[in-house]
Formats: sequence, structure tokens, C-alpha cells
Amino acid sequence: MSENETIGVIGVGWVGLVTAACFAEVGHDVVAMDVDEAKIAALREGKVTIHEPRIEELLQRNGERLTFTTDMGDVLDRARLLFCCVDTPPTYSGDADLSRVQSVVDRLGDDGGHALVMKSTVPAGTGAAIRRDKPDLAYVACPEFLKEGSAVEDFLHPDRVVIGADAGDEWVADAVEELYRPLGGELVRTDVASAEMVKLASNAFLATKISFINEIANVSEEVGADVTEVARGMGLDKRIGPAFLQAGLGFGGSCFPKDTTALKQLAGNSGYHFQLLTSVIEVNELQKRRVMKKLEKHLGALAGKRVALLGLAFKPNTDDMREASSLVLSARLQGEGARVVAYDPVAEERARELLEGVEFAGSAEEALEGADAAILVTEWAEFADLDWSALAARMATPLLVDGRNFLDPARLRDAGFAYEGIGRPG
Ligand SMILES: NC(=O)c1ccc[n+]([C@@H]2O[C@H](COP(=O)([O-])OP(=O)(O)OC[C@H]3O[C@@H](n4cnc5c(N)ncnc54)[C@H](O)[C@@H]3O)[C@@H](O)[C@H]2O)c1
Repeated sequence: MSENETIGVIGVGWVGLVTAACFAEVGHDVVAMDVDEAKIAALREGKVTIHEPRIEELLQRNGERLTFTTDMGDVLDRARLLFCCVDTPPTYSGDADLSRVQSVVDRLGDDGGHALVMKSTVPAGTGAAIRRDKPDLAYVACPEFLKEGSAVEDFLHPDRVVIGADAGDEWVADAVEELYRPLGGELVRTDVASAEMVKLASNAFLATKISFINEIANVSEEVGADVTEVARGMGLDKRIGPAFLQAGLGFGGSCFPKDTTALKQLAGNSGYHFQLLTSVIEVNELQKRRVMKKLEKHLGALAGKRVALLGLAFKPNTDDMREASSLVLSARLQGEGARVVAYDPVAEERARELLEGVEFAGSAEEALEGADAAILVTEWAEFADLDWSALAARMATPLLVDGRNFLDPARLRDAGFAYEGIGRPG
């Protein structure tokens, strides 16, 4: 790839915007295209469309190298490598909805002049189907592993870069490898189907770790153990490791729920019943319901009770609300007749579009005023520094369900709270 060759990015959401900004940061010209006209207009005016650390700084610094457009023609004229970053949400059946990927493919010629680099998470077999459809379209699978909240760091310093290409497309894989090599990380060169499976299997494994530790938490509650101690002891074993062993309300976000379901469906469609993953998904669903029981243990029926949700985003340092636990909890609480008040430092705007019947507070203090209970849903750092004694005095009943085992139970109890964690002794 020549030094001044422009990179095309199609779909400028979380992955696309980070991909565009980071390639610009390391010196490439980037033309980034999206069908969402409002999003492109905002980006052209320098307005950042997601809450993601460092993204604003990168966009400002590299403005000259970045072009935002709604015109696919611009991308096709200027770029040879087209990084496909469109969304692949679940369908009702749980399969990945590939309609957006397909609409991108439909816009591309098969004249051999362009190569599609698939960053979107797609089921194994997608690359092969696209190649059948467009035999002369060069294709590489290059799944994305960034984490929201640290996406820029993850992109610029990857653990590994997986590049899958089939016979005839090695030149694209070489070009993609050249782009990523300066970023460091292990390079995994493989075939397309294996690269596609690496992504799905990685997310399914991490989700499995979460559901596993949540089941250990539930057993710990029965036998008087503290799951945070259990996880600490387990995580020091190098074969296990400490990551993704935090018991809580379960996994959410734009990737784990849809990717586990998509892999389960992919297996099923191929004639294999993925039993373990079926349980992982079920455990995750049930985990949120346990919070209701914890509230009822202290308050009895929830009708008329005022319950505060601390944090709404699916995890801290993002305003992403996709599959957030707060969505399920607010609906269930209101289903039981509770009044829900919520506070999130950055996700309120997105949350307002999704949460019906919820009152929004401008601070944690305001949310807890007169509340019968609080549920810590997202472990935002600012919640650790609250004056919990003062907050206990402002609540009608100082009850806190710590859905992320984020706070120190002794400190909360000293502050006057009835504290309920997940898998911690009462
Ligand atoms: N968000 C993450 O943390 C993450 C991490 C790794 C992988 N992924 C995968 O990357 C993909 C994108 O995820 P995301 O979170 O960035 O999605 P997103 O919803 O934030 O962004 C997708 C963008 O694509 C645009 N789009 C849709 N159809 C289009 C089309 N035909 N042409 C041009 N643009 C189009 C949408 O308008 C949107 O802006 C998904 O497959 C996801 O599973 C996401």
C-alpha cells in the first residue's frame, strides 16, 4: 500500500468513528461514509456523536486528514480498501441481521478495484457468501475487538489483530497487515471463516465467564461465601485470570448479548445445539430478576415505592444504552408499580429515548432524595466518592442494592445503609 493511499470507512458509529479517527491519527487520509445524514452533518461541524474517551481530541487534531460524507461515490473514487463498520443487530430470531452489510455489498462493483475489509461482527460463512455473490470483490475478515470506554486505546494498542483471507486475496491481507503492524500486537493471519469465528468465540467465552461467576455468586449467597473473595482467589490462577470475573447484574451492551445469541443461532442453523451458550444466555436473563427479590426482601411489595437507578449506560465511560441492564430493571420495577428515578453522568440523552415513565435526576444526590431504595446499575467512578452518610439521611429508606459489587459493604453499612451486593453475605 502506498503511503498516501486513502482509507475508506463505511458506517461511522462506535467502531467506524474510532477506526477513522485512529487511522487518521497514525497519518492516513480517511474518507468515512454513513447513511445517517444528521450524524455526518454533526461530524462535519466537529460535533462528536458518541461519548468515548480521547475521540474528540483525535478528531480535532486530525481534521485535515478526515473527510465525512454520505456519498458512497466519494469513498469508491478515493479509496481502495473499504473498512465495513456497519451495525449487525439481532433479528427477532436472534440471528445477525446482515441487511446493512448486504446494502454495502450491493453498492460495490466487482471490478477488482476495491477490497472490502469486514470489521462488523458477522457469522462465520458471511465472507464466503459475499465472495459467491461478488466473485471479483476482494475480501478480508478483520474483526474488531475494541471495548467501548477504552476504544481508542484498544485500537491503537491492540492485543492482537486477526486478518482472515482466502486464496487470491492475499494482497488485501498484506495491505491490512501493513496498516496494523505499526500499532503492535500479535498478528494472526488465517482464513476468512476462522477469523469470523475468532470474534464470535471470543465474545461468547467472555460472556461465559460472566455467567459462570454470576452462578458462583448465587451459590455463594446460599452458602455464606463472598464471591468477590472467591473471584480474587480464582483470578490469581494464571490459567483463569482475573478479567471478567466480576459478579453483577449480567452482561449487556451492543456486542455480548447479540453475539452470543448469533453464535447460538449459527450453531443451530448448522445442525449443532450449543448447549453451554444457551445456559450462558439464560443465566444472564435471570440474573437481573434477582435484584427484584433483594428489594422485596427489605421493602415487601414495590407498588408505590420510589426506586433510584444509579447509572444507566451498559457500562461506565460510555453513553451506549444498547441492551443495558437499566432498560430491563426500569421496566420490571414499573411493572411492579414502583416509581423509577434515574441518574447517569453521560447517558441521559440516549436514555430519554428508551426509558418510558422514568424521572431523570441531575445528580446522584437528587435521585436518592426521598427514595425507598437505590440500585447501583453502572459502576461510574463518581459513585465511589459520594457522601454516603449524607445520602442515607436523605432517603426514605437507606437501602442500596449494589448491582456491580462496586462499593465497600462495611463503609455503606457504617453510613447507615442496608447493603445488598451480588453474592456477598448479607
Ligand atoms: N460497539 C462495539 O463496542 C463493537 C466492538 C467490536 C465490534 N463491533 C461490531 O462492529 C459493528 C458496528 O458496531 P457499532 O457499535 O459501531 O454500530 P453503530 O450502530 O454504532 O454504527 C453503525 C453505523 O453504520 C451506519 N450504517 C448502517 N447502514 C449503513 C450503510 N448501508 N452504509 C453506510 N453506513 C451505514 C449507521 O448509520 C451507524 O452510524 C457491529 O457489527 C458490531 O457488532 C462493535
